[in-house]
Parts: sequence; structure tokens; C-alpha cells
Amino acid sequence: MKAARKAYASRAPPVTVKTGPVQENIIKGDDINLLDFPEPRWHRLDGGRYINTMQGSVTRDPVSGRMNVGIYRGMVGQKDTIPVLLWRPQNWGQDMAKYAGEKREMPVAFIYGWEPCMPFAASSPIPPDVSEYDVMGAIRGAPEKLVDCETVPLQVPASAEIVIEGWISNDPETFEMEGPFGEYTGYFGGDQAKKHKVRVTCIIHRNNPIMRGTLEGAMLKMLSENSVMSSVQRAALAWNILERAGVPGVTDVHCPAAKNGTTLMIQLRQTYRGQAKQAAAAVWGSSAAHLRYKHIWVVDEDIDIHDYGALDPSTRLKYRNTALYGTGKWCRVLIDCTVNLDFEPEENYGGDRYPPSVKPMPQDWEKVDRRWKEYGFKK
Ligand SMILES: Cc1cc2nc3c(=O)[nH]c(=O)nc-3n(C[C@H](O)[C@H](O)[C@H](O)COP(=O)(O)O)c2cc1C
Repeated sequence: MKAARKAYASRAPPVTVKTGPVQENIIKGDDINLLDFPEPRWHRLDGGRYINTMQGSVTRDPVSGRMNVGIYRGMVGQKDTIPVLLWRPQNWGQDMAKYAGEKREMPVAFIYGWEPCMPFAASSPIPPDVSEYDVMGAIRGAPEKLVDCETVPLQVPASAEIVIEGWISNDPETFEMEGPFGEYTGYFGGDQAKKHKVRVTCIIHRNNPIMRGTLEGAMLKMLSENSVMSSVQRAALAWNILERAGVPGVTDVHCPAAKNGTTLMIQLRQTYRGQAKQAAAAVWGSSAAHLRYKHIWVVDEDIDIHDYGALDPSTRLKYRNTALYGTGKWCRVLIDCTVNLDFEPEENYGGDRYPPSVKPMPQDWEKVDRRWKEYGFKK
């Protein structure tokens, strides 16, 4: 986490080179066929074959010129379209709002297969005015080399495996069906609805390229790559945010991996009343809070936030008088995580109140068991 904190606060801007291995093959026009890509259907109930799970999506702020790299899901639609989930609070959503305001399409490039610092930086909510390319350079200790794209005014790593270029319109007439998708919560996220799509204009790739993806979803004792990465990212960024906001005395910050950054634990040296609330307000008020930091715990510095085995000594002595009260007085917190029976059953959820779980279906377990040896594994 220390390394992540340092990288997020450092910058090493990229350099431009003329050519690179990613340009070994250039495919345009009628030759584009995304249906040829061996993309898996990651979960049986996914709305399509998701090609964008661990890519870097590059967009540019049309005003400042800053290039953003983010991970946002997208699936194979037609032979030359990728319907995507484009949320406005995310940085590419903010970029899109500016192009849409001028009734222009937004250029986008998806990078597949590059150094792990790319998905790490791309899925980190670093401040919107900072380019992830600058942070990637800081993580690797040297600026990356970028080449110009073929059909969009963007740049991508010269040694990437595959890049898909295209344009996104904000006109609902152009939207295409997207979703649902098995998400990190362990449930299918979002509905099947018409959403923004990328109109693909070019594919460039190395010879014999390697496609990169990741299995999303969460099952007991099987944390996804997303959850492991996010827990480190969200803790490191929260600590930097607290420091920038001037919250004093922070001694440790942690996000338990299984919670994927939705739970944030802060340990601090308390010197005045309201310090914990100030810490929570600083985190919730930052651009990193979108979709994360739902629960924030703040504890004193003698409590180890990496260890759940801590007693509650908060009951006042006067309320522990068992002769008077028979027992001590407790504060209790209920976090009711059962399915909310006030929710209406949803047709989209097969008549249930909650979306289906991402757990593989019995026929999938059976197939994997049957073919185990074929995959090259011993029993
Ligand atoms: C594997 C993985 C998949 C993700 N999928 C999505 C997604 O589909 N949509 C989304 O808005 N964020 C998704 N995220 C989270 C974003 O990448 C994250 O919020 C990031 O900060 C976005 O970049 P930005 O801050 O530059 O907008 C995903 C993260 C990971 C690690």
C-alpha cells in the first residue's frame, strides 16, 4: 500500500514514439470482425461475451487535452460495435458530457494486454485532472512509450498486444443492448437495456497477440482480481485524500479485500471531538467515493484495523452497575444484510427480489469437472 500511495502522488508523463509492435497488423473497414475474437461468456447469464473486463479505455478531455485511462465494462455487440456501461460520474462519463454538449462523438481506444500497472492505474479513481499514463510511468519508474492511434486522436502504448479504436455517440437512437453482467458483488449487475455503444473504426494488434481479461464476480473464498486490486487502491487513495484534506493523526487505513473497497477502516490518533466525522466527510466528498466507501469505520490508534478480534469497552462505568441494572448497557449496530422483503419481486430477476448470484450453475461445474484432465490439471 505504501508503494501505491507513493505512485498515486508521483508523475512520470509518457513520451511519443513513431511506431511500435502493436502496429504489426492494422485492420479497418469491412475487415473488422469482433465476432472472431475468442471472448468467453464469463457467466451463463451474462448479456453477451464481455471483451472489456481488464482493458484500458482511453478518452481525452476535449478542453484540457488530458488523456484518461479507465476500466469500464463492454461486450461484443455486432461485428463492429461494443455496447458499454458509461456512467457519468466516471472520468470517461465526464469527458463524454463535454463532447455531448457540443453534439460531437467521443473518440475512444481500448488497450488489451500491457504491463499490470495499466489495469491497476486504470481502475484507480485518481483525481480527474490527472492522466493515468502519468501514474503508470510513476509505478514502473520510467515513462511509457505511446504511439498515435490510426483513426482517433488518442495515444496508446507502443508495445500493447491489441488496441480497438472507435467513436461513441450520445444519441439514444444509436444505443445498443448491454448487460447484465456478473459483477464483483457476487450478483448480476445492471439490467439489459439500450446503452452507449462504440462504433469500431480500427483494430491494431501484434502478431499472435495475447488477449487479457478477468473473471469478475465473487464467491466465498475466491476473491476476484478486481477485489484484491481495489482493496489496495481504495485504501491507498483514501489515505492520500485524508492527508490532502488536512485530517490530522491518521495512523493506518485498510480496506478488507472481500469488500472491494466498499468498507473503509481508518485508524487515527484522536485529539479533538468530531475528528472521525471530519475523516468520513473528507473521503465521501472526494471524487474517489463513487461506488465505494459505503461503510467507514474510524477507530483509535490502539485498535488494529487488520484484526477483527477486538472487544467493545465503550460502556460507561456507571451503566455497568450490575447490582442496579442486572447487566451492562450496550450500544448495538445492526447491519441487516438479508434480502429486503420490501423490495418488489422483479421479472428480470426471475421473480426474485435480488439479482441472480454469479455462482456457476450445476451444468457448468459438471462440465469443468468432466474436462478437468483435458485442461491439463491433475485431479
Ligand atoms: C476488473 C474491473 C472492472 C471494472 N468494471 C467497471 C465498469 O464496468 N464500470 C465502471 O464504471 N467501473 C468499473 N470498474 C471501476 C473503475 O475502473 C474505477 O472506478 C476507476 O476509478 C475508473 O476510472 P476513472 O476514475 O478514471 O473514471 C472496474 C474495475 C475493475 C478493477
